[in-house]
Amino acid sequence: MQIAMVGSGYVGLVSGACFADFGHKVCCIDKDAGKIEALKAGKMPIYEPGLAELVMTNVRQNRLTFADDLSAVRGAQAVFIAVGTPSRRGDGHADLTYVYQAAREIAAAIEGFTVIVTKSTVPVGTGDEVERIIREARPDADFAVVSNPEFLREGAAISDFKRPDRIVLGLEDQRAEAVMREVYRPLYLNQAPILITNRRTSELTKYAANAFLATKITFINEIASLCEEVGANVQDIARGIGLDNRIGAKFLHAGPGYGGSCFPKDTQALIKTAQDYGTPVRIVETVAAVNDQRKRAMARKVLSACGGSVRNKAIAVLGLTFKPNTDDMRDSPAISVITALQDAGAKVNAFDPEGMEQARHYLDNLNYCSDPYACCKDAAALVIVTEWDEFRALDLGRVKSLLSEPVLVDLRNIYAPDEVRRQGFKYLSIGRYE
Ligand code: UGA
Repeated sequence: MQIAMVGSGYVGLVSGACFADFGHKVCCIDKDAGKIEALKAGKMPIYEPGLAELVMTNVRQNRLTFADDLSAVRGAQAVFIAVGTPSRRGDGHADLTYVYQAAREIAAAIEGFTVIVTKSTVPVGTGDEVERIIREARPDADFAVVSNPEFLREGAAISDFKRPDRIVLGLEDQRAEAVMREVYRPLYLNQAPILITNRRTSELTKYAANAFLATKITFINEIASLCEEVGANVQDIARGIGLDNRIGAKFLHAGPGYGGSCFPKDTQALIKTAQDYGTPVRIVETVAAVNDQRKRAMARKVLSACGGSVRNKAIAVLGLTFKPNTDDMRDSPAISVITALQDAGAKVNAFDPEGMEQARHYLDNLNYCSDPYACCKDAAALVIVTEWDEFRALDLGRVKSLLSEPVLVDLRNIYAPDEVRRQGFKYLSIGRYE
């Protein structure tokens, strides 16, 4: 089967490489000629574990190619739209400019029965508009528009793709179903749960999933704040409720608030859609507001650990990306925490294993350090914002000797309180009684 992937960003590249690995002939397309050139030379535009190897293997086997034009759409049985849907400036709606532009360009190129699949996260009804655009441009064309949202997590995208909890297909056409069955053949054979719904249901399922996960995180974060006041332990509570199958153990790690390219943007877009239809999703509105406040409030924890002020003090921050195993800085809690610390007069030293390049676009006046220990030198506190594995086993004796004050603020609960205190640290974490 021939597949064209329009958009070679995070989703397009991972999906394209995985489809090639399923044995299909895939062309990943992007308007950014520089990105395509780099990909041809084996350079990945993003950091994702295992991606470079997967891409190289499939390029060598002639199953995966790259192009900066849409010629590969001709002759493809399935054409995926995996372009960005950023938040529209000003109103929080998803900006569909790139999706509709892709639809127009695809319309001009399709030949024979073609399934056009929206993989980008798109508001309910977008598939209808894509269909209208293509029909208007090519009244003669034989095509179907399918919704197939992605549920990949950055940092675990390849295994999420190959071993999905479920695949959701929004389609109303039997021939399209047959094509999608072929696209996902190995997963059909592995009996992965495949849910077929109408297109609008599929589009909304994606937003509902992300909004629900964001709600779960925000719920446990608020319980964590209460724990700190009443002398309870949020990790035990997460286990205590998570063992109830109706609740489930995942996404109950309390922390500095969720970030990334998906939850903040998708909750906003869902809020807007629901308001437009006159059925506001008030829980999600609250979740988004509480999360924004929380990210800012984390700096107050650092201030209180430093005796009320960080003015003219150096603060060491470990972890800048919104989560480990990515270089993605979008809506990272580190941005809010660091900005608030700088506003309070602190000088911030920072280290992140993969995110420092991207961080330069989001944060000013950071003192970037070569490793965690260089970061700690003469700082009045060490703050852990992202739980990279390499921060879990720091030589705390060395850290203590480098800091000017033995203060550790752990926003991800990666250390055991009694162990750290035994080493002589003043230690603040999340949702654990101090
Ligand atoms: C999320 C979803 O998990 C994916 O299923 C979805 O496909 C993706 O968005 C998307 O829409 O494209 P992702 O943003 O890569 O994936 O990252 P997550 O692992 O979900 O983490 C999101 C944020 O929540 C991070 O800031 C993370 O630190 C935070 N989080 C997550 C917590 O604070 N606690 C948790 O228990 C889990």
